Amino acid sequence: MNELNVVSKLSARGYSRRDFLKLCTVMAASMGLPLSAGEKIASAVESPTRPPVIWISGQGCTGCTESLLRTTHPTLEHLILDMISLDYNETLNAGAGHQAEKFMEQSIEKNIGKFVLVVEGSIPTKDGGIYCKVAGTPFVDIVKNTASKAAAVIAIGSCASWGGIPSAEPNPTGAKGVSKVLPGATVMNIPGCPANAYNFTSAVAYYLTYKKLPALDKQGRPKFAYSRLIHENCERRPHFDAGRFAEKFGDEGHKLGYCLYKLGCKGPVTYNNCSILGFCDVGSWPVKAGHPCFGCSEEDVGFSIPQFVEADLEKHSLFTPSATPADITYQRGGNTTATAAGLVGLAVGAALGAGVVASRKLKSEEEASNQ
Ligand code: SF4
Ligand code: F3S
Repeated sequence: MNELNVVSKLSARGYSRRDFLKLCTVMAASMGLPLSAGEKIASAVESPTRPPVIWISGQGCTGCTESLLRTTHPTLEHLILDMISLDYNETLNAGAGHQAEKFMEQSIEKNIGKFVLVVEGSIPTKDGGIYCKVAGTPFVDIVKNTASKAAAVIAIGSCASWGGIPSAEPNPTGAKGVSKVLPGATVMNIPGCPANAYNFTSAVAYYLTYKKLPALDKQGRPKFAYSRLIHENCERRPHFDAGRFAEKFGDEGHKLGYCLYKLGCKGPVTYNNCSILGFCDVGSWPVKAGHPCFGCSEEDVGFSIPQFVEADLEKHSLFTPSATPADITYQRGGNTTATAAGLVGLAVGAALGAGVVASRKLKSEEEASNQ
């Protein structure tokens, strides 16, 4: 049955209706919608009729499911799992084998034209797709058959979006992304390795509210998340502008938090909002952790250009201005307070999509001061 009350479920986990409304409002902000859209999102998410979601997995590492489950504040994975009726996900299914497959078939037949299909992992197409079979059926056929009955198709992660790691040269299985095996179909790609759970949740909330997918770019990515270069909002950007680079891992520049461009950072040629949202609940992301962005959310970068090759700034017509002119004396362990970071994030987020993180940081601060 699809009966549920998201608010009462969140409340049982210690979150108030106010927290829920706040989350819906920041979700609206993160998608560039007017703040009043938060109310609409809240009503859509609270609706007792949840859209069934069939989540199938091909050639992948399950990292996107894991990323979704590793969010805990404000229990994003519960929110998403309560917002939708996740009828089938091989990683999360309680049942297995024939029982699970039968349940999936029944759910599809009962909800033709109504369910959302989420595909994780790439699709092997070589030799009739024999390199990935589920219950004896090539995954490529499962994707085609299931998509033809779905209301919307979402490719989560870089593997499902364009092939990802399995499609890297020499691509022995002929791995492709969903849109390549469904020519002509509208597929929303949420690339990333892994995809950011906040982007997925916001896109699903948008779909529930407006009964259509959000605006997509030429590569099928929601514009609210993939319209800015990583480089525009990177905390190391002032060092790039000042010509201060880490030359080797572990050198003085690396320790001081200098720009990672010379270590192969692809932030200047990669569209994603990692530098604004961060991941999971720690707010960290590859560059913050000291590792160059390798361009996982770009089809022609992440799994095509070797990791430590410098990004071609001219080819990608870079030299966009920095969106976050920060203190160039920034060092790890500096004394920026959580409140200051939250407020900066909120200000930038209102325009660019950091609402979720800003709210999270401010809430943590509030909680800390109440203890
Ligand atoms: Fe940040 Fe990478 Fe750009 Fe340097 S090159 S500012 S580390 S995104
Ligand atoms: Fe991917 Fe770069 Fe973000 S590697 S996760 S797009 S920082």
